[in-house]
Amino acid sequence: MVNRRAVGEPTSHIVRSRSFWKDDFYIDETVLDPRPDSEMIIEVTRKHLFDGMKVLDLGCGSGCLGLSIHRENPEISLSLSDLSSKALSVAKKNALELKIECKFIHSSLFSNINEKFDLIVANLPYIEGHYFLNLQREIILHEPHEALYGGIYGIDIIKLFLSEVGKHLKAKGKFVIEFGEGQDTLIKQELSLFKFSNFNFHRDLNGINRILCVINNTLNLD
Ligand SMILES: C[S@@+](CC[C@H](N)C(=O)[O-])C[C@H]1O[C@@H](n2cnc3c(N)ncnc32)[C@H](O)[C@@H]1O
Repeated sequence: MVNRRAVGEPTSHIVRSRSFWKDDFYIDETVLDPRPDSEMIIEVTRKHLFDGMKVLDLGCGSGCLGLSIHRENPEISLSLSDLSSKALSVAKKNALELKIECKFIHSSLFSNINEKFDLIVANLPYIEGHYFLNLQREIILHEPHEALYGGIYGIDIIKLFLSEVGKHLKAKGKFVIEFGEGQDTLIKQELSLFKFSNFNFHRDLNGINRILCVINNTLNLD
């Protein structure tokens, strides 16, 4: 184990576990290692949970976001989706371990999702081009690139998400997403393009905007 760590393998991969919010999650090289920064999504959403609400964790990876939200209110109806079938297998393993019943959807963004939700959370890849090339060896060699790279400016996948999310929210439904440092200005422009006007940015402990919470106020005719 020491030898593996010495050559840069992340501790979470060696011990196959990482703490996030209230639980330990099974982790391997097929999913992003949950980061403490993402716990802010739980902080922000837990005030909005109500019994019976439909929640989607899109790009679930290990399932850490959706499953932690379920731990805050076990009466929600939870779906977990990801582009990666390997990530979905890890999420299933974690759900089983935590004895949480949920639906698993193999989907690129909303391509296989036909329902509407009260809450959608997503921590999609947002690492921008120049930063990606300079990531620590530990990350670049051991974490899945499709969980990290978000295009030259980092927000390619977030932009696609924003273009579709309105159709998958109930009236007054919300979505909460994480993004990278300095991407708030670009994201604000996209929000106005898609007519989202009811939103809040949340700062991390360094005072940097990293989380966006949006309430659906677009006309949903279908
Ligand atoms: C940054 S990781 C986040 C994983 C987990 N939600 C977390 O917070 O630790 C991004 C996840 O999005 C998935 N992903 C990337 N592109 C996607 C797409 N187009 N549609 C759905 N999921 C996608 C990746 O497979 C990865 O699991």
